[in-house]
Amino acid sequence: MTSKQLLPVYDKPLIYYPLSTLMLSGVTDICVVTTPEHSSAHQDLLGDGSQWGVRIKYAVQNEPLGIPDAFNCAAPNLDTSQPCFLILGDNFFYGVGLGREIFANIKEMFATCLGFEVANPEEYGVAKFDLTGKLIEILEKPSDPPSNVAVTGFYHFPVSVFHLVSDLKPSSRGELEISDLLNIYIRKNILELRTIERGTVWLDTGTPRSLINAGRYVEVIQERQGLMIGSPDEVAWRLGLIETSQLERNAMSVIGSDYGKNLLKLI
Ligand code: G1P
Repeated sequence: MTSKQLLPVYDKPLIYYPLSTLMLSGVTDICVVTTPEHSSAHQDLLGDGSQWGVRIKYAVQNEPLGIPDAFNCAAPNLDTSQPCFLILGDNFFYGVGLGREIFANIKEMFATCLGFEVANPEEYGVAKFDLTGKLIEILEKPSDPPSNVAVTGFYHFPVSVFHLVSDLKPSSRGELEISDLLNIYIRKNILELRTIERGTVWLDTGTPRSLINAGRYVEVIQERQGLMIGSPDEVAWRLGLIETSQLERNAMSVIGSDYGKNLLKLI
C-alpha cells in the first residue's frame, strides 16, 4: 500500500499541493515526516529539494503517536530556535488569500491556526467561541460541534512548541492530538485563529470520494484557466527560487506526462 500523500490528485501527487502552499508562505527549510515504510518513496519523489531551490530533509515517525509527535521527530532536522509552520500532507488549499499574507504580521510568541467554515465540522478540529466571539477551545472531531468553523491542517508555531509537545498526554485513541496542543496556547492566551476568506478553498482529501473531488476541482480550474494548481516547480520558478534553466530540466525529467508539458508551456 502506498502512502496517501503520494497518490495523484489529477496530474500530480497529493503532497505537491501542501508543499506548494508552504513554499508560497515563504518556507524554504522543510522536514517531511513519514512512516518508516513510506520514507524512501517520499525521498525518491521529492529529493533534497534543490530542484525547487529549497532544502528538504526527512524524519521518520516510528509509531502512530499523533500529529504533535511530528515535532519530536523533526526537531533534530530543524532549527528549533526559529518559529515553524506545520502543514498536514493531505491539506489542499487554493486561492487568492494564500501566500505570505495568510500568516503575515504574526506575533512572535503566538501560535496561529486557520479557521474555515465547513458543512461537516464533526470531521475536524472545531473552534468553540464564547458569547463575545472569543475562541475558548478547539474540540477534536466533536459529535455535537459548537460551531461550523473547522481548524485546518496548516499551523504556525512559535519556538515554544518544541518543548510544549512534551506536556501533552495521549487522548483516548492513544495519540497526541493537535487540538490539545492548540488548547495549551489558548489557555495561555497566545493562540490566534485567522479566518480563511470564502474565495479561498480548503479541500478535504481524507476519503476516496473527497480525493476524487479534489482531482476534479484541479482538472476544472486547470483546463479552464490553463494555469497549474499546486505545482512546486511553478511556485519555485515564480518565487525566483530557481532559474528558468532549472525549470526546464525539471520539465524534461517528466516530459512524458501532461504535468511536464504544462511546465514547459510556462517558459
Ligand atoms: C487532523 C486534525 C484536525 C484537523 C484536520 C485538518 O485530523 O486532528 O484537528 O482539523 O487534521 O485536516 P485528521 O484529518 O488527521 O483526522
